[in-house]
Amino acid sequence: LKARYLEGILAAADEAALEELRLAALGKKGEISLKMRELGQMSPEERQAAGPALNALKDEIDAALKARKAGLADAALNERLKAEWLDVTLPGRPRRMGTIHPVSQVMEELTAIFADMGFAVAEGPQVESDWYNFDALNIAPEHPARQEHDTFFMHRAPGDNRPPHVLRTHTSPVQVRAMLAQGAPIRVIAPGRVYRMDMDQTHTPMFHQVEGLAIDRDLSMANLKWVLEEFCRAFFEVDQVELRFRASHFPFTEPSAEVDIRCSWEGGQLKIGQGDSWMEILGSGMVHPHVLRSGGIDPDEWQGFAFGMGIDRIAMLKYGIPDLRAFFESDLRWLRNYGFAA
Ligand code: PHE
Repeated sequence: LKARYLEGILAAADEAALEELRLAALGKKGEISLKMRELGQMSPEERQAAGPALNALKDEIDAALKARKAGLADAALNERLKAEWLDVTLPGRPRRMGTIHPVSQVMEELTAIFADMGFAVAEGPQVESDWYNFDALNIAPEHPARQEHDTFFMHRAPGDNRPPHVLRTHTSPVQVRAMLAQGAPIRVIAPGRVYRMDMDQTHTPMFHQVEGLAIDRDLSMANLKWVLEEFCRAFFEVDQVELRFRASHFPFTEPSAEVDIRCSWEGGQLKIGQGDSWMEILGSGMVHPHVLRSGGIDPDEWQGFAFGMGIDRIAMLKYGIPDLRAFFESDLRWLRNYGFAA
């Protein structure tokens, strides 16, 4: 009896099996309990002999049960520790992180460069009244420039008497907003989104420009040239830049100039600052008196220069990117290839 129980207890696979054995031996109707009860019907001599042996057996089984129970608990704990084991010396798995979009990076960069030259940031809405986008900038309704801009017009329901609006085709309306908001003198840049119906390798219907505007008592094209050269040196990170001013026409500047930067293509690689090629980077000029008047500024007292530069375009130049459309496709393989994403 004793061997049967002790072996059973040692072999018990879990607590449930142990409990079964405990009930079978020591439970109310257990084998040992029954034998204890039988002691009552024995003669004193018999009881004297059997009693202590039975008690010892009971204690022994009890102790074996406790020992096996503790053993099972230890085994379970060991099992768990083994399953949840963690090698803290393993190197961490790298996590891919998002990064700032290249166009946003370039915007931050150029904002910092112009800030060093005293230019604050001005803003205007992307849905702009056609007065700010065109009329205030000396572009009359019948002016051919209105067609050239491939404008997106905002729809107005019949009976809507609000002035006509467009998606701004350039950042130049912010010139007039800045003039009306703060008066002369002024030194601001206005980076932001602009829209034109155009789509090919170097054009997307939404793109980015940065406008520059400086108004003071005696500014000239020479000041414009210096500011642009300083900017290009800092932005393209070259010691020497050469800019070429080509006479041009914009309704909102007089005189007007388009500005090219000297560069070269060596083995398909663009180099800024040296070479035999020129790359157009912006439009500029002295602010037209009509535009100053639109902005409530007296052209007899104040004058200034303005420029407008394609941000995506200078980003392409800086990073040697051939297709503008890729900027806005969010293709991670492309972004990684140019180092814009991890
Ligand atoms: N707004 C012009 C354009 O989008 C650029 C420009 C800005 C030209 C300021 C002259 C002065 O092409």
